[in-house]
Amino acid sequence: MMIEIKDVSWDREQKMILRNIDWTVREGEHWCLLGLNGSGKTTLLNMINGYIWPTTGTMSVLGKRFGEFDLRELRKSIGWVSTSLQQKLYGSEKALKIVLSGKFATIGLYDTTDECDVAKAEQLMRSLGCEALIGRTYDTLSQGERQRVLIARALMASPKLLILDEPCTGLDVFAREQLLRMIEAVAGGEDAPTIIYVTHHVEEILPCFGKSLLIKQGEVFAAGDTEKVLTSAMMSDFFGVNVEIERRGGRSWLSVKGDLWK
Ligand SMILES: Nc1ncnc2c1ncn2[C@@H]1O[C@H](COP(=O)(O)OP(=O)(O)OP(=O)(O)O)[C@@H](O)[C@H]1O
Ligand SMILES: [Mg+2]
Repeated sequence: MMIEIKDVSWDREQKMILRNIDWTVREGEHWCLLGLNGSGKTTLLNMINGYIWPTTGTMSVLGKRFGEFDLRELRKSIGWVSTSLQQKLYGSEKALKIVLSGKFATIGLYDTTDECDVAKAEQLMRSLGCEALIGRTYDTLSQGERQRVLIARALMASPKLLILDEPCTGLDVFAREQLLRMIEAVAGGEDAPTIIYVTHHVEEILPCFGKSLLIKQGEVFAAGDTEKVLTSAMMSDFFGVNVEIERRGGRSWLSVKGDLWK
């Protein structure tokens, strides 16, 4: 079991941000996490990473229950890419160093690295098509380039779990498709980590994401096989708007039917 969340809630300022969440992720599954702004996706991921603790309920990550594991060790087993991470990194640091810091799951590089680590970082950057950025400082990179560097960083510790929180934010359609192709390659690779992919956009859900979790206002709206969850009827119910889902090339494409503003 990679993640087991049972009846978990999280309150802040007298508001229930997550409510009675049940979610199980098994080894070998890749999940997509879908929900509108403010629905609680990032909060749930912060809990999985041990940055916040459930107010009620129980959870275990990578077979360890909360309170039983060393968070520093846990985070080395979880690769994490998010825009909130982008803001924390040091802009003056070279891309290679940022990738290397992934080995220790630290912001900044404090531990010593050897030639093997550098070779691995370079190889990851090559496989993500960003080897030309090795010597560039992070603040000079474009959004798409940063996302590639961050994915390379996340893979540096050969994680068991890879969490991608809206990795395509700010990418143009071509950069998005390129990044999705790379994510697909990671999912199909040997010893691939279990991937959790967070998005607002159903068209980003690659065929490798066989499972989907829909979160609405802090609650699980639906969870299960993507093909059963991503239907026109279910998504219309989920968004509260009449939408149509079309499947093309193993992906789903959403269009809004009728007048949104009525
Ligand atoms: N520390 C906090 N204190 C108070 N409210 C919080 C806190 N953290 C998150 N929230 C609130 O919880 C709700 C869920 O936030 P979260 O960041 O999990 O949403 P999200 O689904 O990731 O949204 P987005 O798609 O915009 O990234 C929001 O209304 C947010 O304002
Ligand atoms: Mg978020």
